[in-house]
Amino acid sequence: MEHKYIADIADYEDKEITFHGWVYSKRSSGKIWFLMLRDGTGMTQCVVVKSEVAEEVFIIEPTLTQESSISVTGIVRKDDRSVGGFELTVKNIEVHQIAEEYPISPKEHGTAFLMDHRHLWLRSKKQHAILGIRNQVIKACRDFFEENGFTLIDTPIFTANACEGTSNLFNVEYFDRTAYLTQSGQLYGEAAAMAFGKIYCFGPTFRAEKSKTRRHLTEFWMIEPEMAYCNLEENMEWAERLVTFILERCLDRCKDQLKTLERDVSKLEAVSLPFPRITYDEAVDILKKHDVDFEYGSDFGGTDETIISEEFNSPVMIHRWPKEAKAFYMKRDAENDELALGVDMIAPEGYGEIVGGGQREDDLETLQSRIKEHGLPEAEFKWYFDLRRYGSVPHSGFGLGLERTVAWISGISHIRETIPFPRTISRLEP
Ligand code: 4AD
Ligand code: MG
Repeated sequence: MEHKYIADIADYEDKEITFHGWVYSKRSSGKIWFLMLRDGTGMTQCVVVKSEVAEEVFIIEPTLTQESSISVTGIVRKDDRSVGGFELTVKNIEVHQIAEEYPISPKEHGTAFLMDHRHLWLRSKKQHAILGIRNQVIKACRDFFEENGFTLIDTPIFTANACEGTSNLFNVEYFDRTAYLTQSGQLYGEAAAMAFGKIYCFGPTFRAEKSKTRRHLTEFWMIEPEMAYCNLEENMEWAERLVTFILERCLDRCKDQLKTLERDVSKLEAVSLPFPRITYDEAVDILKKHDVDFEYGSDFGGTDETIISEEFNSPVMIHRWPKEAKAFYMKRDAENDELALGVDMIAPEGYGEIVGGGQREDDLETLQSRIKEHGLPEAEFKWYFDLRRYGSVPHSGFGLGLERTVAWISGISHIRETIPFPRTISRLEP
């Protein structure tokens, strides 16, 4: 390939090369000027010396605005003081477009302004680093499941089933009926697990979240494994192994990004297997110890999760939930019918719930009565009941929220920066 990238600059020491990119910044001092060139893979300093370039190249400096697109040809020189350990002694610059005055400058901007300019904000160092981590988290998930014998199964986006309750569904006109945008691929994942043994799906999921929090998006991506012949304990083992794999991968491959974000990696390095496991009741005891006014039987709120997480260095898995707090499909604890065999994994440092899952109800009649209790339309679940008619087995799975995981690893307090173009209650553009 002809196209050369700044990320590979070390391969071109003392060679003449052309990089294609954008002006990040520049400074001038009479007979010499410096340009920081950004090409998406990295940045390098380009040095323009009056005596070494044609007059028409030297004089373009004042016209080169921030984000102007240019191709720079020069010789790569080793220079330990430079960003990346190299710089480019310029021979020629070809200008593609002189950018209009760029709205994002190094000065502080408000979040609303930056979000309105998200299509440009992506070019900033910090945003670039977060999305680089997101890329590695996705790759790590795929590698983990691939290495462990799982088959990727794509589940539909249009669906007739409410998997996670009816309160936050997005309706879509679907010819002469109404469809929902999927809240979770789980129900289809269960069908696929009976066909393939171990599967995972990975795709966008949708929830009309009316609550405006730093942890909620209306469109987010979820990685959902589902395993046949798997109980709650084994499910928790899969979840902690996946999260550890992702973490190790990011610590290994995202060093630059974590540095750019000034992430305290010692907190991530402190995570170790096995993750603590506590029951819902034990989690409630932690809240009591901190004098939190908490209603037994309800789900934990953001602040509750933070208080619980602060007791541990690794993500904590909370299992065995009051049945009212969990979805219709959860199997009940054989020792206490009031408890659902669900599990939530709460990330350390107050990053909240990153995994939700559990063991599924595998008995046909129990499941049918559960659907009735939850007021869900039986007709839409006809196919799902078939899974309990034809070779039903104990099975489990979970969903890992991609954006929450990226927020935790990156150390970013608000989830909106972990997805290229966030969708929230008040944002559909850009
Ligand atoms: O706990 P949830 O709702 O679980 C399910 O959807 C199951 N059907 C998954 C399964 O068992 N296959 O969601 C799973 C995870 C949460 O732990 C959280 O990380 C993330 O998805 N999540 C959200 N992330 C961003 N914005 C939202 N509105 C989210 N809702 C859930
Ligand atoms: Mg949940």
